[in-house]
Amino acid sequence: MNMQFHTFENFPALADALSRQWLEVIRSTPGGASFALAGGSTPAPVYQRLDQLLSDLEQHQLIKLVATDERWVADSDAQSNEGLFRRCLSASSKRWQLVSLKNAASNPEVATDAISVRLAEQLPQAFSAVLLGMGADGHIASLFPGAPTQHDELACLAAVHPQTRQSRMSLSLPRLLNTERIWLVITGAEKRQVLERATAENLPVAALLHEAGCTIDVFWCP
Ligand code: 6PG
Repeated sequence: MNMQFHTFENFPALADALSRQWLEVIRSTPGGASFALAGGSTPAPVYQRLDQLLSDLEQHQLIKLVATDERWVADSDAQSNEGLFRRCLSASSKRWQLVSLKNAASNPEVATDAISVRLAEQLPQAFSAVLLGMGADGHIASLFPGAPTQHDELACLAAVHPQTRQSRMSLSLPRLLNTERIWLVITGAEKRQVLERATAENLPVAALLHEAGCTIDVFWCP
C-alpha cells in the first residue's frame, strides 16, 4: 500500500492545492488527459477551482471525463453527478468531453454491456487520474461494503445504495485501478478514522489501497 497523506487546514486550501496539481497533469498530457471523477457533496469546490484555473490554459486538446459512478436519474436531477460536473466546469465546458455512464435504459442492470462497450471505445487508455471520495462506510464510487466490485470483465457494474436504495452505475474496481494517479478526497475526523481502520474491517476502500498500482494521494482537512 503506497499512500501519501496530505493535510490541509481547510477545504479551500485543499481545493486550491489539488486543482493546481490537476492542472499540471492536464498541461503535461498534451495528447489529451482523461479523468474519472467522484460525485457526492465533497469535491465540487475542487472542480470549481479547476474550472477557474483552466481559463488561462493555452492548449486545447479535449480532456475526457467520466463519473466514477452515476445515480440512475435524469441529467436535470440534482442527484446527477454528470449534472454536477456540468455545473462546476461550466466556464471550461468546451474543453471537456464527457463520457456518460448513462443511457436510455430503464435501469443500470440492463445497461452494463452497452456502457462497458462505450467505455472501452471512448476511454481505452489508463486514466490520467481518478478522483475519489469515500463514504462513512468506506465505500468508493458505488462499490458498497459486501457488494461485488466487478461484474464479469465489464468496466462497469450496476449497484444499489444500501441506505437510499438508489440505482447506480459504477466503474468497476479494476477499471478504477487502471490509472496513473489516484486522488482520494476526504474531510473530517470520522472519515480519517474510517480510512485508518479500512484494512482491519475489509472496507471497499481497502481494496483500492492494496490493489492500486500507483501511489494514492489522500487529500484531507478537518
Ligand atoms: C457519489 C460518489 C460517492 C461519494 C461518496 C462520498 O456518487 O456519491 O461518487 O462515491 O464519493 O459517497 O460522498 P460525500 O462526498 O457526499 O461524502
